[in-house]
Amino acid sequence: MVFKVGLLGLGTVGTGTAKILLDAARRHPLLETLEIHKVGVRSLDKPRAVDLPEACLTTDLEAIVTDPDIDIVVEVIGGLEPARSLILEAIEDGKHVVTANKAVISRYGNEIAEAAKKAGVYVLYEAAVGGGIPVIQPLQQALGVNRIETVTGIINGTTNYILTRMESEGGDFAPILDDAQKLGYAEADPTADVDGLDAADKIAILASIAFGGKIRREDVFTEGIRNVSASDVNYAKTLGFVIKLLAIAKRNDDSDTTIQLRVHPTLVPLNHPLASVNDVNNAVLVEGDPIGRVMLYGPGAGEGPTASAIVSDVMAIAATLHMESPAEEKLPNPLLSNAYSDYK
Ligand code: NDP
Ligand code: HSE
Repeated sequence: MVFKVGLLGLGTVGTGTAKILLDAARRHPLLETLEIHKVGVRSLDKPRAVDLPEACLTTDLEAIVTDPDIDIVVEVIGGLEPARSLILEAIEDGKHVVTANKAVISRYGNEIAEAAKKAGVYVLYEAAVGGGIPVIQPLQQALGVNRIETVTGIINGTTNYILTRMESEGGDFAPILDDAQKLGYAEADPTADVDGLDAADKIAILASIAFGGKIRREDVFTEGIRNVSASDVNYAKTLGFVIKLLAIAKRNDDSDTTIQLRVHPTLVPLNHPLASVNDVNNAVLVEGDPIGRVMLYGPGAGEGPTASAIVSDVMAIAATLHMESPAEEKLPNPLLSNAYSDYK
């Protein structure tokens, strides 16, 4: 059984995703069952860093989300529109969806979840928060039994990269932002990174999972790093602190109904676990009962790490579809099998 993937976008994340899906050396039985069918882009003339049959590429994204041959749509074009409409159209057409789009999920996550429930399809978005770090799935599942008290994160790779370099080299953020853009970390409009809006989208998503309810990104107090100067970073260092853009969701004193939601530059003591999260890395510190403290850490942006999260979602959907498939088509139980004996 083969599942056909329609990829919307072939920029930083789309290219990384296509590379994994096409890489024979990385083969996993589930990858063998996935095939890129169509790739939607804005321009057919751009040089591409991945080898795809020319016939795969199209500028007609509508045709991809309504293509009867496609089973799973991966949305990595970014922005609110046409991304939101394409996701909803794909769902209504009975396709499963994987997206990295935190802007869409933080604003329209509930509408999308309801549409997916109605259509009986899966929508997964692990790559939307923390790049390559598994964050969404652990919060929903492995940590799901806990009463969460706080979620504190460094969840924007671009600003963490900028602040880390300001600390080690001095200087202001603008030239370092250029490097973050060249490395593929920043959003198409990097003001979303610098002004904290991307981190606000992400903490709204994490808080919705951790605390339940319809938490909107507009509910998040948001201040970015635009006003953090080289001398602020230096003074902080002299006093034994490092400046980090923290995103915080915190239950108000034992309350079952109110939480604080904020994103702002913060003086973090050097001995705090988040103080040593540097460069493009992200970390999410979760405190809850009965688990105590858990920190999820890793690369928070960039082609490879983000593509890893995207493809893991695609594989999770494929694994589920395989389990639902007729007995003669099944792989050895793709989720529970022993990775060493079955797959290596
Ligand atoms: P890029 O800007 O690098 O790529 C966007 C791609 O989408 C391009 O291939 C572009 O086509 C295509 N595209 C954009 N708009 C349209 C449109 N209207 N019609 C057709 N094609 C379109 O973005 P990224 O890969 O960096 O990001 C994609 C998504 O992933 C965003 O939601 C982002 O927030 C998210 N994300 C990004 C991470 C990163 O590290 N970069 C990490 C985690 C999430 P063309 O190539 O022809 O211009
Ligand atoms: N622009 C985002 C960041 C990409 O720098 O964190 C990952 O979501």
